[in-house]
Amino acid sequence: MQIAGAIGVFDSGVGGLSVLHHIRNILPSERLIYVADSAHVPYGDKSHPYIESRSLTLTRFLIEQGADAIVIACNTATAAAAQTLRDRFTLPILGMEPAVKPAVLATQSCVVGVLATVGTLESARFAALLEKYAGKVKIVTQGCPGLVEQVERGDLHSLETRRLIERYTAPLLDQGADTLILGCTHYPFLAPLIRDVVGADITLVDTGEAVARHLQLRIASELPSRIAGAASAQFFTSGEAAQATKIMSLLWGEQVTVQRLPPEFA
Ligand code: DGL
Repeated sequence: MQIAGAIGVFDSGVGGLSVLHHIRNILPSERLIYVADSAHVPYGDKSHPYIESRSLTLTRFLIEQGADAIVIACNTATAAAAQTLRDRFTLPILGMEPAVKPAVLATQSCVVGVLATVGTLESARFAALLEKYAGKVKIVTQGCPGLVEQVERGDLHSLETRRLIERYTAPLLDQGADTLILGCTHYPFLAPLIRDVVGADITLVDTGEAVARHLQLRIASELPSRIAGAASAQFFTSGEAAQATKIMSLLWGEQVTVQRLPPEFA
């Protein structure tokens, strides 16, 4: 029997929409369900148990809505909770990790900078990623408190946002990085401003498209009898719906209606 499925995607807030764009491009006939956990953003300074508990709750909600594959569109939540979700649920669960492998292949200066949340940079998962892929390349890291909040406000071009980007990229460039990893799904929305600050010679790398391609392969191999639900995108937030509607419409590039999560999931 063929079962109609849906792809459930969640992030601490609106950043995962940068991944959802790639998913929609690569899998245009899918039904997409997105949850922004904006009442709990940022995850970057929260404990692993806190993020695990939120990730379990949001995954349960997405499964209730009909999701048969989950994308954790958040590097911080992947580091804190991907294993727990995979232990708990049997459906395909894809995570996000800073793109160390492609960045190591791209660098000419043999120095790669990583912009990410403090939670991601301090995780055992990130240490394991470096161990596996850094090789002889020097990896320099920079936590970026405040950047996620700028994106949550839809503040992608202000002087304040620019100053933060200057402050966070300068130490990486000073150490010789010619390649910068955007290790948080909020940061691709700041890519034009980051590009403007660091100049055209610096390579920017993010993982959104690779994750969407991987999702396509996993669905084909693990859910062979499935058909996609009718092509659509639904949006939920644990935060305030009117504010989320404004920001998510801006970042999604078309007017959307964002629903508030039921209280037991918010
Ligand atoms: N978008 C996130 C990530 O990829 C989470 C940022 C945060 O909430 O601190 O890490």
